[in-house]
Amino acid sequence: MVKEILPHRVVFLPEGKSVEVLSGTTILDAALKAGVNLGSVCGGKVRCGKCRVIIRDGAERVSKPSNEELNLLAEDEIEAGYRLACATTIGGDLEIMIPPESRGEEQRLQVEGLDYSISVNPFVTKYVVGLPVATFEDGRTDKKRLLDALEDVFGLKNLSIDYSIFKDLPKTIRKGNWTVTAVVWNKEKIISVEPGANPQMCGLALDIGTTKIAGYLIDLYSGRVLGARAIPNPQIKYGSDVITRITYTMGEQGRLERLQQLAVDGINQIIEELCEEIGVRPDNIYEMTVVGNTAMHHILLGVCPKYLAWSPYTPALGSENIKASELKIKMNKDANIYLFPVIGGFVGGDHVAAIAATRMGDSDEVAMLLDIGTNTEIALGNKEGIISCSCASGPAFEGFHIKYGIQAVRGAIEHVKIDPVTFEVKYSVIGNVRPVGLCGSALIDLLAEMLRTGVMDVSGNLNTGLNTPRIRKRKSGASFVVSWKDENGIPRNITITQQDIRELQLAKAAIRSGAEILMDRLGVCEDDIERLYIAGAFGSSIDPKNARIIGLYPEVPLKRVKIIGNAAVSGAKMALISKEERKRAEEIAEKVTYVELSTQPEFMTAYLRSNYFPYADPTRYPKVSTMLERCGVKLIGDGVQRRLIGR
Ligand code: FES
Repeated sequence: MVKEILPHRVVFLPEGKSVEVLSGTTILDAALKAGVNLGSVCGGKVRCGKCRVIIRDGAERVSKPSNEELNLLAEDEIEAGYRLACATTIGGDLEIMIPPESRGEEQRLQVEGLDYSISVNPFVTKYVVGLPVATFEDGRTDKKRLLDALEDVFGLKNLSIDYSIFKDLPKTIRKGNWTVTAVVWNKEKIISVEPGANPQMCGLALDIGTTKIAGYLIDLYSGRVLGARAIPNPQIKYGSDVITRITYTMGEQGRLERLQQLAVDGINQIIEELCEEIGVRPDNIYEMTVVGNTAMHHILLGVCPKYLAWSPYTPALGSENIKASELKIKMNKDANIYLFPVIGGFVGGDHVAAIAATRMGDSDEVAMLLDIGTNTEIALGNKEGIISCSCASGPAFEGFHIKYGIQAVRGAIEHVKIDPVTFEVKYSVIGNVRPVGLCGSALIDLLAEMLRTGVMDVSGNLNTGLNTPRIRKRKSGASFVVSWKDENGIPRNITITQQDIRELQLAKAAIRSGAEILMDRLGVCEDDIERLYIAGAFGSSIDPKNARIIGLYPEVPLKRVKIIGNAAVSGAKMALISKEERKRAEEIAEKVTYVELSTQPEFMTAYLRSNYFPYADPTRYPKVSTMLERCGVKLIGDGVQRRLIGR
């Protein structure tokens, strides 16, 4: 007799979603099947420890923890029933609680950015036109009737019209009682014909980043943002950085298509949610502008990204115009999707858009733009010319590879202050709830505050001799307690570890050395930089003063520093509503000279010098040095060696 295999029922709390799965399914896969949001940064490889769940009922009906899993969980967590969802397989009915720190909360949007007032002049225009009714005397075809009317009334000559549109014309014209709305792209081609008068005309500006996808629904008449939505990039389960994703696509067949489909699904989710919220029909979205790094750009188009990772990192394509239906994006099927031009394998359309948004290419002033993300792009120059580079800063400032790092979501500690005498910590939390982790702006604050108060020295070493219970010494390394477990929302102290500091130090050094090389190449010093823009991952919550204390950027007066949030999105919005702005983006891509850091002989020296806080040579940071000295921390400059005195 064949034994019947019965599925097990798994209930996920607090949402109460349930799913039926077979024995051997991991809790992570069950959660995905149930549509439950669960952090899984390493993609289920038992490395990140972000998929913690608590088994409320049925702990005896799951697999035993492996050593790998035990290494990622604290003892009191194991006692409290914590398990890693990706490492635990199901063997019976279960009730599982997803703790707050593991929930994939909706991300906070950076919508402010740098929005100039520009005149709205989109590529798409709507024309409502009445057609002469067909008679025996006027026997023109429906297609000719429409083209003639558009020429007679609006002067539109030589418009093209695709088969996919004219095949429905007879029905559309009669349904509208001989009045139609023609949607025309760039006065060249008809991309939609709708019955009667339909005034709604929207576009979508999209930022497809390695960690998140953000979309902005825009009214193409006024240029007004109607709504915004951001979701984690669903590809993240296949790696948190660009190289891992590219490597993934090189494996067995179908992987590139899988990543492409995930991007398309994410975009469609954003469109669907925005349309529902605002009350817009997806059919009435006629254009989309897309910014993203070169790898995301290629993967979205289903183009092999392999050669982006191989020297000389040549992209397969630059700016492209693609029909929405070709990518299966659920907007008007004949809508145009414009992908920004790229500068190189590691400098993508997002950087082009950010440069365009700052208008640094139009100005006499020398400006520097730092667009901080998993890959940080830096541009330096003015209207005479711009050079740019890409720094492998990694995702540390976005909270990845940091023990208690999370993105800027509800529950993230956003800003931190340390008392220089008692070492007590004050912090603010997004959403004013109990904290569950540290986001990028808090990490910058922490580094600056630890440096200022002597908790950490200029080499990034925690001062383990300090007389405070907040300094913890363990076999695994030292750490500093930011939030005690009885005051936060997780059953552990939230700390910054020595290892976290190393990760941040490397990220900071990558960014600062990139800036140094560009300054060197243009023969520009700190005084020459009249404007310094900081864009990207942190949004507007970064404290520019603290960023300067740790040497994230060259020491320029604070009044010259402008935090511009997601400048790439600003560029995408501008190019959506203005033909001139799109032209500007194309020109910038032509004009920028890319500097490959790995081929610069002085790069390694700059990198090593940038590993210190704020920099190996304190004479390059006179204001920061004076400020630190006032706090009892004296920087002694001798080229590389630093010494911290005063504590
Ligand atoms: S440890 Fe489970 S997803 Fe990373």
